[in-house]
Amino acid sequence: MERIFVTGGSGLLGSKFATITSDYEIITTYNTNPRNDAVKLDITRKDDVLSKIESLNPDLVIHSAALTNVDYCEDHQEEADKINAQGTLNLVKACDQTDSKLIYVSTDFVFDGKKGMYREDDETNPLNYYGKSKLKGEEYIQNSDIEYAISRVSVLYGWHTNFNFVTWVISELKEGNDINIVTDEYNSPTFADNAAETILNIYSKGREGVYHIAGDERINRYDFAVNIARVFELDETLINPILSEDLSRSAPRPMDSSLSVEKALNDLDIKLLNTTDGLKEMKKVMK
Ligand SMILES: NC(=O)c1ccc[n+]([C@@H]2O[C@H](COP(=O)([O-])OP(=O)(O)OC[C@H]3O[C@@H](n4cnc5c(N)ncnc54)[C@H](OP(=O)(O)O)[C@@H]3O)[C@@H](O)[C@H]2O)c1
Repeated sequence: MERIFVTGGSGLLGSKFATITSDYEIITTYNTNPRNDAVKLDITRKDDVLSKIESLNPDLVIHSAALTNVDYCEDHQEEADKINAQGTLNLVKACDQTDSKLIYVSTDFVFDGKKGMYREDDETNPLNYYGKSKLKGEEYIQNSDIEYAISRVSVLYGWHTNFNFVTWVISELKEGNDINIVTDEYNSPTFADNAAETILNIYSKGREGVYHIAGDERINRYDFAVNIARVFELDETLINPILSEDLSRSAPRPMDSSLSVEKALNDLDIKLLNTTDGLKEMKKVMK
């Protein structure tokens, strides 16, 4: 059985791989949040990355670990660079040693958001340090000799122990709290289970290069929140529309980082779920 090594197994996306397939041996890692059966790995520790990957000799490494808090990255740029860029370089070097394929999970925030519905070969121009550090990771991979794919996702959501946008909105509305959500930021929210399945499809079909793996939809945050309320039968009048200029955040955001998923739909045997369908899938397995 082929072996897949997943970094960030304690995170939202990384936690999904082991639950959606039994076709591969999946080994996941955690850093600060221990998980059953997961291996401890700090990707900034170059020697540890190399020795773990050499001893496990995986066919594929899915690199999902990252510092994902966009404002924290803006305020802690050295740390963001160490984890998102240098950590990725450590994995590239290890994959080079073991001839393992690498699939790197990147972000819609590599784009500046002036255009929207970005295609894989559109010019990148990150506005914030999170996007810059993730793009550096992409460049380290593209400048290496390893076999790779890069899958850019956008606003991940799904059931997980830590809050994401969807589970936070559900929790706030259930508590009867008013929430302020921006109407002028657009992206392509990505159901984590669907993204994990699609990333495995990239591997099983032997695809390489950059893929946008996101929901098949361009939607603003406010409409997404209203969709959440409707699917989970919660009070949508608690959701107040605001503008991004009303928020005070460290990191600038792209106004429209929605992703075109046409290439993935043409090349892969997969459906990429829009928010209504993704939310309905979540509801089926409601915790
Ligand atoms: N979340 C989004 O909306 C979004 C949007 C676009 C792209 N992405 C990309 O998608 C991927 C998955 O995101 P996610 O939301 O699933 O992540 P997440 O839930 O925030 O989890 C981050 C993961 O990275 C691990 N990690 C952090 N620092 C590490 C280090 N130094 N060494 C090893 N592991 C470390 C964490 O481990 P511990 O918790 O055990 O410390 C955790 O498993 C990331 O690459 C992210 O950049 C996410």
